[in-house]
Amino acid sequence: MHDRREFLRLSLGAALGVIALPASAWALTQPPKNMRRRITVYKSPDCECCRKWVEHVKQTGWIIDVKDVDDMAKVKKDARIPAKLQSCHTAVVGRFVFEGHVPADLLLAFMKNPRGVAGLAVPGMPTGTPGMEVPGRAPEHYQVLGWYRDGRTFVYASL
Ligand code: CU
Ligand code: CU
Repeated sequence: MHDRREFLRLSLGAALGVIALPASAWALTQPPKNMRRRITVYKSPDCECCRKWVEHVKQTGWIIDVKDVDDMAKVKKDARIPAKLQSCHTAVVGRFVFEGHVPADLLLAFMKNPRGVAGLAVPGMPTGTPGMEVPGRAPEHYQVLGWYRDGRTFVYASL
């Protein structure tokens, strides 16, 4: 299923390449810059590390809609985030879901080429991830996982 979709996508890309749209027409097919960079973050009202993560993402130019919600379990259920991937806050860009303290540069890199992946996740709250810096404590090594809707995951980055 995934492979077939990927094939179709590649075929379409190749076809567009052959047609070679003039630059002006190409620009019209692109969403405005600020639309691509808009992110919604769901978090508990008094989560301090979530607030710090929002600040971290803001610094890289994203426009952030922060939604303070009391029932984060419901947010994660609605977004169908596998239990093993869950963390504190949940961020959404279009149909893509980012769970936990994902570094902002990886968010950007992911959105440039999301393919069939549902989103990225940093399960739990490893020390040293953006927003989880603890003075006097060495940052942990951690993985940023890519995840599919069927629950499969893969290592997107090891940090
Ligand atoms: Cu956190
Ligand atoms: Cu958080």
